Amino acid sequence: FRSYHTVRALYDSGPHKFVEVNGWIQSIRHLKRIAFIDLRDGTSTRSLKIAIPLVDQSLTEPLKSLKTGQCISISQAEWVPTPQREQPFELRVGNVLRDVQILGNVTSQYPLQKKSHSLPFLRTLPHLKHRSNYLGSLLRFRSHVEHAFIQFFAQNEFIKVAPPLITSSDCEGGGELFKVEDSENYFGRSAYLTVSAQLHLEALSLALNRCYTLSPSFRAEKSDTNRHLSEFWMLEAEWCFAKDVSELTHFTQNMLRSVIKSCYDNKNELIPRIIPQESEQASTILQRLENLCKDGNWPSVTYTEAIDILRDQHVNVKPFPNYEPQWGSALQSEHEKWLAGEYFQSPVFVTDYPKDCKAFYMKHNDDGQTVACFDLLVPGMGEIVGGSMRENDYTKLIKEMDRRQMNHNGDLDWYVSLRQEGSAPHGGFGLGIERLVSYLYGNRNIRDAIPFHRAATGTIE
Ligand code: 4AD
Ligand code: MG
Repeated sequence: FRSYHTVRALYDSGPHKFVEVNGWIQSIRHLKRIAFIDLRDGTSTRSLKIAIPLVDQSLTEPLKSLKTGQCISISQAEWVPTPQREQPFELRVGNVLRDVQILGNVTSQYPLQKKSHSLPFLRTLPHLKHRSNYLGSLLRFRSHVEHAFIQFFAQNEFIKVAPPLITSSDCEGGGELFKVEDSENYFGRSAYLTVSAQLHLEALSLALNRCYTLSPSFRAEKSDTNRHLSEFWMLEAEWCFAKDVSELTHFTQNMLRSVIKSCYDNKNELIPRIIPQESEQASTILQRLENLCKDGNWPSVTYTEAIDILRDQHVNVKPFPNYEPQWGSALQSEHEKWLAGEYFQSPVFVTDYPKDCKAFYMKHNDDGQTVACFDLLVPGMGEIVGGSMRENDYTKLIKEMDRRQMNHNGDLDWYVSLRQEGSAPHGGFGLGIERLVSYLYGNRNIRDAIPFHRAATGTIE
């Protein structure tokens, strides 16, 4: 559908005449008889090297008017192999006056002058920062990840559904809800932005067998960390006739392997070569992707085993400075990061948490203490996935809700009644897209993994 060449398409093609490209000048070098431009058009981590010779003196001024940040259009150029140079091809322009058009000029304050800027600096420019190669590549990487998920689910006979974002229920029971209001309540009722689509997915899985969604979730938590957003995207899957937690963890591992493999196979288009100092360098990213693609199961331990490992470390080696690991308490992010990053040095599944650490809907284990659930923890980030078998027995669910003093006749009556109408064993999980993308891409702050982040602090453009 395009009448011009994209950078990505040009690199996939051989030598060419009469090439038209459009893009933004990333940098420009004026020499005596020639100017070299690095042009990006947003389609690739790679830029085009453009050579514009000064064929006669009358072209000096037009050539000088080209500046970093401008949007330009180039026509009638030639795409020529340059085996003697670092980059395999360059684009040669014949006549700057005839073949180069400035589509969008810049002011003298255009802030992205250098080839690579630090992340703290880029974050001060939310409307421009994606033009940097590193953050632009991050968004292309995320797009690829989402696409790979969609392919995986289609191959596994899952139906993509669109659950509501406005709801009356607090799925996780954490009270971290954003209220939706018109002039008073939501047209006279109480409504909130969803924290998770799970409850609705459960209803849909009882109709469709297997379903999933990739949709926004909202959490009114004040946590000002590198892994919490108040608006984030969650991939949630739910399916019937799941047998146990090990089926859920195997599915999760296979799904992530297939997505990561797809990223690795497309590494040349996805991973930039020039990376800001604060982030992981390309070789580290590629090594991680490669390791994650290798066969073999990621380790899996129960919560109880994880606490034993953590307590052993805390008592005999070096204490965790802020929280003593204790059976019955939630794992803190420092525990999660240490387990995955230092102890296992791999993604690790932790299963069967105490029931009071988790939400009301999880299926109880026979021990009466723990629930049939898992979290997937990864190095540097901690939890990226949480899932469980769901309590599908009506009496047991009611009993648990009573124990938690939850009202099952109110906003959740539809949910509870699913257990009385053709209930089936089922389970599923939710994965934070920004956390996964940050972990794979190595940028260490999920605020960069969403184009305009929303958190307890910061601007709201
Ligand atoms: O562990 P969570 O809270 O689980 C649920 O909401 C389940 N109902 C999901 C399900 O089973 N369908 O959230 C799931 C994942 C976390 O593992 C984390 O990756 C991400 O969502 N997440 C966040 N990501 C960014 N910012 C936040 N504030 C997040 N809270 C959770
Ligand atoms: Mg969780």
